[in-house]
Amino acid sequence: MENNDNSLAETAIESIEALMGKHPGYRRAHAKGSYYEAIFTPNGQAAAYTTAAHLQQKAVKAVVRFSDSSPNPKMIDGLSPVKGMSVEFHLPAGEVTYLVGVTVPVFLTKTPEAFVEMLRLAAEKPGPRDLVKMLIKYPESKAAFRIIKNTKPFLSYSTSCYYPIHAFYFVNKEGKRQAVKYKWVPDETFSLEAKKEAAIHTMDYLEKELDEQLPVGFTLYVTLGEEGDPVDDSTASWPEERTTFAAGHLKIRQKIQQPNDQVIFDPTIVPRGIECSADPVLHARPNIYAASFKRRKMGL
Ligand code: HEM
Repeated sequence: MENNDNSLAETAIESIEALMGKHPGYRRAHAKGSYYEAIFTPNGQAAAYTTAAHLQQKAVKAVVRFSDSSPNPKMIDGLSPVKGMSVEFHLPAGEVTYLVGVTVPVFLTKTPEAFVEMLRLAAEKPGPRDLVKMLIKYPESKAAFRIIKNTKPFLSYSTSCYYPIHAFYFVNKEGKRQAVKYKWVPDETFSLEAKKEAAIHTMDYLEKELDEQLPVGFTLYVTLGEEGDPVDDSTASWPEERTTFAAGHLKIRQKIQQPNDQVIFDPTIVPRGIECSADPVLHARPNIYAASFKRRKMGL
């Protein structure tokens, strides 16, 4: 099983390189990014559902990395539609946990294998017929494609929502499990006029804009899943009317000038009180990220 996972991880990385080129020393996705110091203050609302230390009453320190999703570190900010927000929460006794979100609420495929197949097809410069065939084979990809296609030029890291996509389980003191999804909602939003302007900005405008805005904030919302809501499928959303509540607030205070970049934002590292769902895309990520990390650490 582990060998299969490792070979899937290697194939995934090779497929990304075939499509987007090799950029030695950089992450094989989300290559361009910057780090910030932050404080997460929970409001206690999630404590009924989970014993996780960062979701009780006490504030914890956090490190945040904002990124452009492209594997190309020289990608022009305005040209890549999906951005990332990775949060490393520092829990008591040196423990950490991660929430790794992007600006779209659903993923492209139900399985990592299907995603790798898509990367391969894209690298072969497909014609319209190949794309239609792909969508017939993987109809679940339509939702993410539609959202990405309608994405407006991105003006600011600090004014977008970010979605960690996968479902997780909260586990409370009584051992009761509750399926949840998360969403980061920014303190400030921006105008349509401002969005239009995004297209004419310089290559690295996002990092500069964020640095000028600091401090900025996000509220962490938790949505409670109900019987029948898909928990193991990254391509599927939950109904709008599900109970959603704010669980805490993240204040991003200052830039980290010399960050420790030897970090893997691994979304499967969860503390006591939270469990991973069985989503196969979620479980493929640690090996894929480790394969990317190994290469970038070696300068490959
Ligand atoms: C099979 C599917 C996926 C593949 C092949 C993939 C691939 C990668 C790779 C190679 C990296 C670089 C890791 C490193 O060097 O540390 C990465 C980072 C990242 N991925 Fe994924 N990913 C997948 C699914 C997802 C999903 C579902 C999300 C959204 C929830 C996501 C969000 C991110 C973000 C935000 C980063 C940047 C982390 C950082 O700041 O270091 N990825 N991904």
